[in-house]
Amino acid sequence: MELATTLTSQTVRAGIREVGINPNHWYAVGWAKQLQPGQVTKVTVWQQAIALYRDTAGTPHALADACPHKGVELHRGKVHGQHLACRYHGWEFEPSGQCVHVPYLPPSQKLPCAQARSYPVQEKYGLLWVFPGDPAIAADRQLPLMPEDSQGGWLKVPVTGHFKAHFSICNENSMDVFHGFLHENLQGWFDPLLLSLQETEDAVCAEYQVSYKGRMAKFLGLSERADQATTLPIAVQYRYPHYQSSLRGVSALYLMRLPVSPVESRSFALFFFKVRLPQRLLKLIEPLLQRLLERFVLMRFLAQDIEMMESEQRQYLAEPTRRCVEINPAIIAVQRLIIRQYERFKQSSSPTQMNGHKAPNLAVYRSVESQASLPHERWLPDRADST
Ligand code: FES
Ligand SMILES: [Fe+2]
Repeated sequence: MELATTLTSQTVRAGIREVGINPNHWYAVGWAKQLQPGQVTKVTVWQQAIALYRDTAGTPHALADACPHKGVELHRGKVHGQHLACRYHGWEFEPSGQCVHVPYLPPSQKLPCAQARSYPVQEKYGLLWVFPGDPAIAADRQLPLMPEDSQGGWLKVPVTGHFKAHFSICNENSMDVFHGFLHENLQGWFDPLLLSLQETEDAVCAEYQVSYKGRMAKFLGLSERADQATTLPIAVQYRYPHYQSSLRGVSALYLMRLPVSPVESRSFALFFFKVRLPQRLLKLIEPLLQRLLERFVLMRFLAQDIEMMESEQRQYLAEPTRRCVEINPAIIAVQRLIIRQYERFKQSSSPTQMNGHKAPNLAVYRSVESQASLPHERWLPDRADST
């Protein structure tokens, strides 16, 4: 459906900052190279703790992070071949979650009937993906398509983000090209214009026009000359639950959002920059270019975005009934999509499937002090993503 691009006052959707996720999608949970064969770690997808391990043959698996014996976290355990052994009494679970070995059980005794929930996992684009919803439909759901990943001539920069904010706040930041004002001192974009806007059942697609100028824009290939403004169309899509944008032929961004809790989100971003270098030379200097771009460009943009997103979250927790006004129709469309996806999941789920996916009670997060001690995974270094 084509939507109007006029910027007029609209009321922010009620409940958007507390809405749950639709778990019937693939969620990126970490970089593949950070989980070596024989290692196990903890990830959280919307309040579901998951023990993610790579067996000794290199295949990743995911089990609920609670041992069926006494509930101890399975990510504290050890990998034994294909199995994950709980740290406490050594019960071993195969990838399906079935208990297949109890070290102190006499051979004549039957194994206890103990089963941990297992999650579908896959590895693609250098990322590990988990499907936290109904496993029966996992195979029908697609990962984002990233054509640049298999084409030559693109410099790929992976970047990780961590935000103490609800995923709706983060996704709105990515979709809102009008916040170039924030990045003014970094020579971000200026004079944004919303050209077109479409909304479908699963996506919001917008095209903006933006202008670039300065040394940074020239360095990134956005303009030919530093002293001249260049105007380009930028296509941005929020294809639930992930985001992508593209400056055709110049750069592309795929931003995989991981909702952790009502006040915490992560993201795994893959930036692609078109470079005019021979492929062999590019491969040689890629690690250096990745570090430079991450540290001197993307991290600096990200720090500014994080400051705003976390401020927005804190202000919401302090006064959830404050009326906010939005004028960008793309943001209102993103809010509608997030709510629609959650409603769709609720309607299609049994009460058991809803367990762990319930809209949260935010009372526990409402003290600003509690923000300082939010739990989060430590295995993923806090690097940058930027929008
Ligand atoms: S608690 Fe896991 S084996 Fe006992
Ligand atoms: Fe930004």
